[in-house]
Amino acid sequence: MYRYAAFVLLLTSGIVFQLSHGVEVEVKDSKGDLCIYANLTVDFSVSYKKNDNKTGVAEFELPSKVTINGSECDSKSSLLKLNFGGHSWSVNFTLDGEKYQADLITFSYDLSDKTNFPDAESNDTLTITAKPEIKDVVKDTCYSCKSRDMIQSDAVNQTLWNVLMQAFVSNNSKSGELTHCAADLPATTAPPTTHAPTAAPTTNASATTAPPPTTPIPTLPTPTVGKYSIKKDENSTACLLADFGLRIGLKQGQKYQEMNFDPNGTTTSGRCGVNSSDLIVVSNSMTIMLTFTNDTKKFRLHALNITGKTSSGVAFSEANTNLSLWQAAVGASYMCNKEQNYTITSALTLFTFDLRVQPFGVKKGVFSTAEECQSDAESFLVPIAVGVSLLVLILIVLAAYFIGRKRNAATGYESF
Ligand SMILES: *[C@@H]1O[C@H](CO)[C@@H](O)[C@H](O)[C@H]1NC(C)=O
Ligand SMILES: *[C@@H]1O[C@H](CO)[C@@H](O)[C@H](O)[C@H]1NC(C)=O
Ligand SMILES: *[C@@H]1O[C@H](CO)[C@@H](O)[C@H](O)[C@H]1NC(C)=O
Ligand SMILES: *[C@@H]1O[C@H](CO)[C@@H](O)[C@H](O)[C@H]1NC(C)=O
Ligand SMILES: *[C@@H]1O[C@H](CO)[C@@H](O)[C@H](O)[C@H]1NC(C)=O
Ligand SMILES: *[C@@H]1O[C@H](CO)[C@@H](O)[C@H](O)[C@H]1NC(C)=O
Ligand SMILES: *[C@@H]1O[C@H](CO)[C@@H](O)[C@H](O)[C@H]1NC(C)=O
Ligand SMILES: *[C@@H]1O[C@H](CO)[C@@H](O)[C@H](O)[C@H]1NC(C)=O
Ligand SMILES: *[C@@H]1O[C@H](CO)[C@@H](O)[C@H](O)[C@H]1NC(C)=O
Ligand SMILES: *[C@@H]1O[C@H](CO)[C@@H](O)[C@H](O)[C@H]1NC(C)=O
Ligand SMILES: *[C@@H]1O[C@H](CO)[C@@H](O)[C@H](O)[C@H]1NC(C)=O
Repeated sequence: MYRYAAFVLLLTSGIVFQLSHGVEVEVKDSKGDLCIYANLTVDFSVSYKKNDNKTGVAEFELPSKVTINGSECDSKSSLLKLNFGGHSWSVNFTLDGEKYQADLITFSYDLSDKTNFPDAESNDTLTITAKPEIKDVVKDTCYSCKSRDMIQSDAVNQTLWNVLMQAFVSNNSKSGELTHCAADLPATTAPPTTHAPTAAPTTNASATTAPPPTTPIPTLPTPTVGKYSIKKDENSTACLLADFGLRIGLKQGQKYQEMNFDPNGTTTSGRCGVNSSDLIVVSNSMTIMLTFTNDTKKFRLHALNITGKTSSGVAFSEANTNLSLWQAAVGASYMCNKEQNYTITSALTLFTFDLRVQPFGVKKGVFSTAEECQSDAESFLVPIAVGVSLLVLILIVLAAYFIGRKRNAATGYESF
């Protein structure tokens, strides 16, 4: 039992590793003072020509181990250069008055790196430049952008995310203040005023005990159902399927709010295992990690970790690694069409809509037989019960009719 728990813990930390990749570097100026700080993740997708005249696509991430040789700081311009395995990725910044910006990203990749570029035709080092949307960053603040920003150029797509960067650092220390990118800012559709407490501000007594989140004020529309799947490799069919619409309820201090998870523009990753499978879905505002376990005969949702930011920009991270939800037989799928709510942690409630999952034993890339949740089954039972009672009624009427006829026949045609 203990060992099992340790295994699961190891597993969850494994996922965390995968997600918290990225690199953190500090560049010092000639005086030894910090001048550039960067903590970011970059995913590269590079198309290149292969020996067989076909086009290959290399996908890799900026590794966590890089060197910063070639980086330099000046009073008005500076360069962050990250070198890894023969490749290099650099950004140059310029300061203009009270604001700074990133002008250009330069990425050089060495095609003789056959690990990342298998069967590449040439051994050349190619360089591309791209213009990022990192501008108007207030001096002495950190540029922060959790959202994914894909920068496209001819042969290379680079996706920057979880970016925290400061150039022109003063006083040898990174600023705690942030300039957020536009993508991270709250959507204009949710006016923050609606979250104003309903209680009269003069009543002071209740302030010490948190008011119960009884009134989720603006009723959100039903969340869009997203369809997520994972494949073992490119050629195979899906090995994990999950369809659901998702809403979360979040308590932060005394504030309770609900947010819909928008499946549009999400990225899906994960892993199909024998005893455990993971699904990770990343949207602009949230990262959801689901871990399913296979207990030989049944599977269940065992761990859930949701991190993100509310519309007002407050970060949250809630996880439970001891769940037993969505259980069904291995080889079947779990289905629950009715809206359900689950308490994940004291601060997080999960609402699901049109849920169907199959984390193990997917055949031909489609869901197997569904095992429905209680509430679906109940709603199913009502029409069945009505149908059965109708049938019984009809049988009674028919029986009465025939008995009546028999009696009439026996007693002769007395009736008019
Ligand atoms: C949940 O995910 C976040 C972000 O990856 C991580 O910092 C946190 O430790 C995770 N929590 C658990 C319990 O795994
Ligand atoms: C870059 O992204 C575009 C749009 O998503 C896509 O069509 C293209 O194939 C991608 N290129 C590479 C090299 O991944
Ligand atoms: C490779 O492709 C080019 C044009 O794209 C073609 O002219 C050439 O014959 C091809 N070579 C082989 C070996 O298929
Ligand atoms: C690339 O380098 C490898 C090993 O260094 C060598 O075997 C191969 O012939 C080179 N290819 C070209 C096109 O130069
Ligand atoms: C409200 O509570 C604060 C701190 O809990 C206290 O200082 C203040 O006097 C209270 N005001 C009233 C009107 O009770
Ligand atoms: C995918 O299929 C193609 C053609 O069927 C094959 O050449 C390739 O090796 C396969 N890739 C994998 C990862 O199985
Ligand atoms: C998804 O988002 C894009 C732009 O962000 C928008 O054009 C598109 O209509 C959206 N699709 C759906 C189904 O909402
Ligand atoms: C579920 O686990 C059992 C025992 O660990 C294993 O034999 C079985 O193949 C697993 N099922 C799937 C679909 O991975
Ligand atoms: C799955 O679990 C079974 C027993 O619980 C164990 O024997 C087996 O080695 C595990 N398989 C993997 C791939 O971890
Ligand atoms: C996990 O949940 C079970 C029952 O739901 C409980 O008995 C057990 O103590 C929990 N373990 C942890 C580590 O929270
Ligand atoms: C959660 O679901 C139960 C019924 O399953 C319902 O009574 C309750 O009101 C729901 N809670 C919320 C916050 O929607």
